[in-house]
Amino acid sequence: MTIRFSLVGKGGTGKTTLSALLIDFLIQKNKVPILAVDADPNFNLNELLGLKINTTLSEVRESLLKGEGPNFMSRYEYTEMKVYEILVENRYFDLLVMGYPEKSGCYCPIHNFLSTALEKLMRAYSYVVIDNEAGMEHLSRLNLTETEHLIIVSDASIRGISTAGRIVNLVKNLKINSKNIWLVVNLCPKSKKEELEKYVNEVIKGKEIKFLGFLPQDPTILKYELEKNPVFEWESPLKTEAFKLFEKLFN
Ligand SMILES: Nc1ncnc2c1ncn2[C@@H]1O[C@H](COP(=O)(O)OP(=O)(O)O)[C@@H](O)[C@H]1O
Ligand SMILES: [Mg+2]
Repeated sequence: MTIRFSLVGKGGTGKTTLSALLIDFLIQKNKVPILAVDADPNFNLNELLGLKINTTLSEVRESLLKGEGPNFMSRYEYTEMKVYEILVENRYFDLLVMGYPEKSGCYCPIHNFLSTALEKLMRAYSYVVIDNEAGMEHLSRLNLTETEHLIIVSDASIRGISTAGRIVNLVKNLKINSKNIWLVVNLCPKSKKEELEKYVNEVIKGKEIKFLGFLPQDPTILKYELEKNPVFEWESPLKTEAFKLFEKLFN
């Protein structure tokens, strides 16, 4: 069975950083093979994973819309082949980049082929980590609604945390089906922790959200980002703390 993690939340809260750290954590725990999915049209997860991108799923869609492909293959077989072709392969994980969304209109057969191929692909891995764009509407559009762990990432602000609390309603409206909904408050200065913890408890009270914990504002990661070091090479308080929180996902 495949265990899926989907990271959601506002822009700039740390979804991509935490997705990359989660992949690093899973590898260190020997929880492999992993499929990393970059579902943000402004994809950048590859940078933290130290990978270069050639093509995205949106280019496959374009090619299918143009009717490209050999006659000796069915349209579905061709779709599946192309989806495998765009995977960036690595030792313990592969990366799939979704690219930009469908422009408009319903290309139903092609949409269905892509969803089916994607679903089949995800089932071939033990773990799937999905790094999302801000918002969640695309999850329905891309058929990424089934997940074991939905991780809401918030910054350490009152407004950020209350927005995160409201995501649960959105989850219901969008028919996202997640066994566990977690809240993680990232970018937290030490001094704010206690006060914010009270607020977090108020926000999640009576809701289906579990509090994963706080992660510190960590100045050391700027250097790694500037030098384009993949997360696997980081030695930072953020990584240490994030790994402690990720343990909770397996308890
Ligand atoms: N805990 C943290 N401490 C310091 N900087 C952080 C932390 N988490 C994220 N960042 C930085 O904030 C910026 C946005 O993070 P990112 O993971 O790209 O957010 P998102 O994917 O949610 O838009 C990045 O430059 C990242 O390095
Ligand atoms: Mg991001």
